[in-house]
Order: sequence, then structure tokens, then C-alpha cells
Amino acid sequence: MQVGIDKMSFFAPNYYLDMVDLAHARGEDPDKYLIGIGQSEQAVLPPTQDVVTMGANAADQMLTDADRADIQEIIFATESGIDQSKSGAVYVQKLLGLNRYARTIELKQACYSGTYGLMQARDYVTLHPEAKVLVIASDVARYGLETGGEVTQGAGAVAMLVTANPRIATLNQDNVFMSDDIMDFWRPNYSTTAVVDGKFSSNVYRDFFKELWERYQEQNQKTLVDFEAFVFHLPFTKMGLKALRDVLPEVSESKQTALMDAFEASRVYNKKIGNLYTGSAYLSLLSLLQNDASLQAGDDIALFSYGSGAEGEIFSLTLQPNYQDVLLTQQLPDLFKQREKLSIAAYEEMFNAGLTSGQDRQLDMTHDSAKFVLTGLQAQQRQYRKQ
Ligand code: CAA
Repeated sequence: MQVGIDKMSFFAPNYYLDMVDLAHARGEDPDKYLIGIGQSEQAVLPPTQDVVTMGANAADQMLTDADRADIQEIIFATESGIDQSKSGAVYVQKLLGLNRYARTIELKQACYSGTYGLMQARDYVTLHPEAKVLVIASDVARYGLETGGEVTQGAGAVAMLVTANPRIATLNQDNVFMSDDIMDFWRPNYSTTAVVDGKFSSNVYRDFFKELWERYQEQNQKTLVDFEAFVFHLPFTKMGLKALRDVLPEVSESKQTALMDAFEASRVYNKKIGNLYTGSAYLSLLSLLQNDASLQAGDDIALFSYGSGAEGEIFSLTLQPNYQDVLLTQQLPDLFKQREKLSIAAYEEMFNAGLTSGQDRQLDMTHDSAKFVLTGLQAQQRQYRKQ
């Protein structure tokens, strides 16, 4: 029996920042951001959204009533959770009207935990083929105003439904993974922004990728030739490009061109959303599936997942017949058409406007038309609404 991704969906907030505007404001050459970093726009989180509402907004768009009843596990991957105790999955279960007889759990290991969630889902469905598992990877990447990491911020959520006989892609049993205690990026409990050693983190990412790719090839007797595309965790899209370039010399020039074309398709959406931490690799997978017209059923895609701190994993997926029919292909183009561009001043104000204290507060709801919103805080309880 094959197990894998049956449905995928995405949500990002309705506001964005143009990286050319940010470059001008920070006294940088726009080409540094556009080419050197590989980002053109960045999703900005309004106070009325958080990882819970973004996750609910993403999943809601793909779930039928039957799915809601059949889901036996809700796995919520994030490194920007809203509570140190209660999982985001429990809030999502209620907001979406999901099966009460389900396990709910939140996972954390920087940008990596969405991949663990996906593998846990695969293993559960392998043992319980009638079950469906909802995996949500939802995050807000925050480094702070006027920091080196500012250009690599972003926000959004990817939702995936894992089932037997999936319609998008099977998850192959070929994973290799590794972890090491490394201080390249972390966020202490007292901080709302990440602490990062930027250059070091990029080097660790590449080192993990190269070591795991060697190991993957040895373990699975496969090489780059066996894949139509390589999808990467994209904290900024130049990062994946650097990793891909590290291994391209292993194949012929024509294969290099094909893999580069696939990489370009896989970063179309990430360039306009920014870093999604846990969801970045899966937004990139969505971007590939929706923007690479040369892909076909039966094609194998490799994926490198990386989370600072640090943990990495490589595995592959196989595309299923007519996978295009299940993709919500208008979701991201529509989002890009509808979202509002912010001035630098408006972005800076929004950056500092979130709920960060325990004081009761009612948020201004006039500018958020998403289905699930955060309306404020009462008696230290976040107030969510379906509208
Ligand atoms: N035209 C074209 N390119 C230009 C340019 C111009 N005018 N000016 C500069 N560049 C290029 C530089 O040559 C450089 O390219 P290379 O990396 O290929 O050498 C690139 O633009 C970036 O320039 P800098 O290295 O000078 O940039 P920076 O010092 O401002 O830092 C950064 C960049 C380290 C990514 C920083 O934004 C950062 O710390 N980001 C957050 C950390 C991060 O994302 N790390 C990734 C790995 S960790 C991970 O993956 C987990 C996670 O999600 C956080």
C-alpha cells in the first residue's frame, strides 16, 4: 500500500512588503535582496492572524466533511507557537470542526518539524490505512527591524492531508536524517525574534545537505539522475540555489539545465512569501508542482528539509497520476492579486502591533477578511472567530 500527500493547501496574510522598498529604506542595493538573497516580496503578519488562524485558514480550504470526520491525528508543526503548554492543533481542531476522537499535538525543532510531522503521519497511516492525518506547518519568521535577517522574514501556513493511496505524491521509505547540537539560530523564551548567526547558519545548512546527500545516495543506490527535481527548505531562495549548485556537477549539462529549470519553478512562490520556517520546503514543493509543466506522473522528487539547531532530512516523493487535478492551482495567484502592499512605515507599525502582553485587548477587525481571525485577548485567553 502506498501512503502520501493526498491534498495540499496554503494560506498567507493579506499584506506584503516589496523588497525593493525595504532595500531603499535600509540603504542597500535592491539587487542584493532580489538576486543576492533571492527574495522579491515578503508576507507581513497583521495582529489579527497568528499561527493558529493561518493553519486553520490553510487547512479549511481543502477539507471536505468526510475528511473532517476521518482525521485521526492533527499534527501542528511550528517554531512560533502561541502557548508554551497547549498545542496549536487543539485550537485548529475546534475552529475546523474536526473529529473529537483524534490526537492533537504540536511539534518543535526549528524549520524541520513539519517533515517529522509528515513522516509520523505516513507511519500512522501505514498502520491504520483507513485513517487520515492532517499535518499543518505554520510559522511567522521574525528577526527584527533593521537586522541582517529582516530581508528573510515571512509568514504563512501549509496544510497537507496524508492518506493511503494519495492523489498527489507518495512518500517513499528512503529517508536519511541527522542532528547535531549547533547554535546557528534559536529563539529563547524571553524573545519574540530569533537570534541568529546568519553566515554560520548558511554554512551549516550546506554542510548538512552535502553530508546527507552522500548518505542518501549510499543508502538508496540512487544519484541525481534519478530525480526530476530537488526541493529545498528555502529560508531565502538563494540558499537552495547554493545547495543545488553544490551537487549539480554530478550530472550532465542537459540534466543540470533541467534541474535548474525545476528549481526556478520551485521558488516562484517562496520569492513572494519569504521564510515560512516549518512550511518553507512544502511551499516550495507546491510551487514546483504548480509551476513546472514538464513534470509527469511517476516522476521522483527529492526534498531536503533543514531546521537550525540543527536537524536535516532527505527523502523522496513520487508523483501520482493526474496529480494536477487535485492541486488548488488558483490559490496562490489569487492571493498575490488580492493582497495589499504596505509602506515601510505601515510595515514597521504592524511588526510591533501583535499581542505580546497579557492585558485584555480588542483588535481592530476591519482590515482582515480571512475566514479565521484572532479578535483579541480576554482573561489571558486568545479569542478566535470564524467569519
Ligand atoms: N547584487 C547582487 N548580489 C549582491 C549584491 C548586489 N548588489 N550585494 C550583495 N550581494 C550578494 C552577496 O554577494 C551575497 O551572495 P553570496 O551569499 O552568494 O555570497 C548575498 O548577496 C548576501 O549578501 P551578504 O552575505 O552580505 O548578506 P548579509 O550579511 O546581509 O546576510 C543572511 C544574509 C546571512 C542570509 C541574513 O539575511 C540572515 O542572517 N538571515 C537569517 C538566517 C538564515 O536565513 N539562514 C539560513 C540558513 S538557517 C535555516 O535555513 C533555518 C531558517 O529557516 C532560519
